[in-house]
Amino acid sequence: MTERIIVSGASGVIGSELMRRLALEFPRGVELVCVLRSEDSAQRLATLLGLAITSRVRVVRCDLTDADGAAAAAAELPRVSHCLAVHAAADVSWHKSLQEIRPINVDGSVAFARLVRATAETARLIYISSAYTSREEWTYRNSYEQTKAEADRLLRRDFPDLHPSTFSCSLVVGDSVTGAIGAFHGLYPLMRVLSDARMPFLVARPDVLIDIVPLDWTVGALVGLVRQALRGVHVDDVVAAAGPSRLPFRTLVAEIRQSLDVLRRAEGRGPLPEIPIISFRRWEFLRRSFKVWNVKGLDVRALRLFERILESYRPYLEDDRIRPAEGLSGPAPDPRSYLPRVVEYWRTLDRDAPRRVSPAPPGLVAHVATVAVGPCAGRIRSPDSPVHASCQRWPPATPTADAPARDVVSAAEAPLPLSPGAAGTRPSANEIRQ
Ligand SMILES: NC(=O)c1ccc[n+]([C@@H]2O[C@H](COP(=O)([O-])OP(=O)(O)OC[C@H]3O[C@@H](n4cnc5c(N)ncnc54)[C@H](OP(=O)(O)O)[C@@H]3O)[C@@H](O)[C@H]2O)c1
Repeated sequence: MTERIIVSGASGVIGSELMRRLALEFPRGVELVCVLRSEDSAQRLATLLGLAITSRVRVVRCDLTDADGAAAAAAELPRVSHCLAVHAAADVSWHKSLQEIRPINVDGSVAFARLVRATAETARLIYISSAYTSREEWTYRNSYEQTKAEADRLLRRDFPDLHPSTFSCSLVVGDSVTGAIGAFHGLYPLMRVLSDARMPFLVARPDVLIDIVPLDWTVGALVGLVRQALRGVHVDDVVAAAGPSRLPFRTLVAEIRQSLDVLRRAEGRGPLPEIPIISFRRWEFLRRSFKVWNVKGLDVRALRLFERILESYRPYLEDDRIRPAEGLSGPAPDPRSYLPRVVEYWRTLDRDAPRRVSPAPPGLVAHVATVAVGPCAGRIRSPDSPVHASCQRWPPATPTADAPARDVVSAAEAPLPLSPGAAGTRPSANEIRQ
């Protein structure tokens, strides 16, 4: 019989929900252990789960990028005869280099597997990966995908005694009933972009498909795999993806906008402007044009921010390869059935978040809107040309009744969506990561 379930990354989106489900499913008899790297992580977990659950969880303090520290943590943990381990700790950023994320995503996976091996006579390991990557025959779109796959291969090669299984999930959003989620990354920066209505357009392959899954359904599938592993049944791979119910980007954007408009109506505000979606070819043309024509008055910082956001998302807005769903007891729900709750949860918390107020970035918005989507699309105009004025249909630089001050945040002052997750008592960062 399994005496211990040990989870890494328990303070994260998936890990915290897993811990909650495990605590409910195994009220006693099985020791629950979390590997957490800091006091902040432990605080976050306590806030997310409450005292009733965390009081029965043993916390092992260890930064998994520190192999010696992980070995020392293992030495402190009493050895058990059988253990089930779930490895969820990772850096899920899409924009970082291999050097930045390999230490946790690859070396950290090895350190966790060693810790598990050292603290149990027999053990099974479930490795959490992404449905957007694969161990083999895959062209990796970023370092995140590459390192997740590398760790998966390494664990299978070097830890066969842990009988590794891989649980690969798609892009996770909030609970399908409540919308709740522990952090706002992945899809959430897109909600922010749509809600702020500061971008004159979005850039994507017109027919690109986006695969998202709700947190409760995903963790339900993971718990199913845990149950099988506890019974000693080996399942090589589970892929928790929406598959046939993934949505074209255009539809996803329309669904989010619709949900935001419902919330805005309730606040007595008008609907959001429709944001056109332009192709990457057109965007490249624009970028080149800015340089060639040496456009004056452009907000360079805002442009760079837009470029950075776009570069992080680009792989998934151009290339919608994802592994097909596998090993599940049922299909993922259609995103249209739960997106309103997901958007509402995000908007409710986001609205409370303190924001600094300043005029919208004038240069970028005006130029880009003019060139890309206005009646003069494709041509560069000077900011004071009459055509420019008539094309300018982006939010005004000063707050109005319909665009109150708190919704007008300059790119320079807005929290950079590329920065690491803000630790806190509730989701507070919009990040470009999975
Ligand atoms: N969320 C998704 O959409 C998604 C989709 C596909 C796959 N996945 C996979 O699911 C797993 C969990 O993702 P998530 O979304 O829950 O991520 P998350 O919310 O960013 O949480 C990551 C977790 O890893 C921990 N961690 C990071 N660096 C660590 C280190 N050096 N030592 C120890 N712990 C460390 C974090 O601890 P701190 O609290 O201290 O930061 C946090 O608990 C990852 O393996 C990810 O690749 C996620």
